[in-house]
Amino acid sequence: MKLAPVVIRQLIEKASEAKSKAYAPYSRFPVGAAILAEDGRVFTGCNVENASFGLTVCAERNAVAAAVLAGARPVAVAIVGNQHDLLPCGACRQVLAEFNQDLLVVTQKTNAETEVRSLRQLLPAAFALEKA
Ligand code: THU
Repeated sequence: MKLAPVVIRQLIEKASEAKSKAYAPYSRFPVGAAILAEDGRVFTGCNVENASFGLTVCAERNAVAAAVLAGARPVAVAIVGNQHDLLPCGACRQVLAEFNQDLLVVTQKTNAETEVRSLRQLLPAAFALEKA
């Protein structure tokens, strides 16, 4: 699957909007994620931190929860933070792989430049369990 440049732009834009809603008073590192579903819908998430740091939920996982709630199947995710080419953490890669191992991961290198990688590239030989 290949994402059209206009779709990449829209996803980055939605992820940036989500980033502006992040609750990150401890790290001061807001992150936004936008998931494109198979049916064209887009679901967003931001990181939500907690005073008990380990309870923090990443932007990607909050976007996954929104997509699951809507019964949507993720095909791509864009991630935006105040760092170029921000990639999902290992835990989020595993959570994303749960729903589509061929997911495309879009990052922003500069305002004009984006990068698209496959989740398989980022998490080769992912753990998987047969569904009961
Ligand atoms: N964070 C994300 O939201 N996504 C990632 O993939 C990496 C890290 C958040 C968690 C925490 O609120 C802040 O970024 C700093 O680690």
